[in-house]
Amino acid sequence: MRHGQITRNRLIAAGVGSGLILILGVAWLLVYAGAYNIAADAPHTAPVYWLLNTVRDRSIAVRASSVAVPTDLGDQKRIADGAGLYGEMCSGCHLAPGMEKTEISQGLYPRAPDLSKGTDLTPRQEFWVIKHGIKMTGMAAWGVTHNDTLIWDMVAFLQKLPHLTPAQYQAAVKSAPESHEEMMKDMPGMQSDGHGDHHN
Ligand code: HEC
Repeated sequence: MRHGQITRNRLIAAGVGSGLILILGVAWLLVYAGAYNIAADAPHTAPVYWLLNTVRDRSIAVRASSVAVPTDLGDQKRIADGAGLYGEMCSGCHLAPGMEKTEISQGLYPRAPDLSKGTDLTPRQEFWVIKHGIKMTGMAAWGVTHNDTLIWDMVAFLQKLPHLTPAQYQAAVKSAPESHEEMMKDMPGMQSDGHGDHHN
């Protein structure tokens, strides 16, 4: 009786084991046969899209949760410096108010979201993404070459970006980082009165 039970458990374990090996084997064969199309001009299948999106969103949310946000994100100097950095390094992929689509912005997959339309990310999540980048997407880790202060400047600017007209955007980029004081006063939401901060 006891002997029979042990034999049965062993048989089940062997069955589960060979089932797993079979699944891994088939998965490897599909990978090796090049079955999945890695081309950037062929969208992911729905399950792969869901999986990658969920992995990304959870990874960012968990890692960003311990990031300490500076209290001076409404500071005009920060915002102006961030505008200059954004115009220089980010708009080619993420575009900006009044800007034509660029070639790279049309060919990227996943697409770089148009940050002038706002984002679901919180400022600490934006900081984390800008600093560390996102694997296999084209979004670089800017923290490799930029310190935290500069990255927070960009986050500060991103809070204002969705409220800028094309003219205001141009003015912000052109005048950064020098005398930007006058121009900032004319921008809606540029005053650090506590009402201008919309975290979309
Ligand atoms: C070469 C193109 C490219 C450049 C340049 C680039 N990004 Fe990105 N960025 C991307 C792509 C692509 C994604 C989307 C990744 C994804 O969907 O997982 C992204 C995602 C982001 C996100 C997350 C947005 C969201 O709502 O999920 C932020 C914030 C961001 N980038 C900020 C920046 C900033 C700031 C700069 C400039 C320092 C920058 N990016 C430069 C390609 C780029």
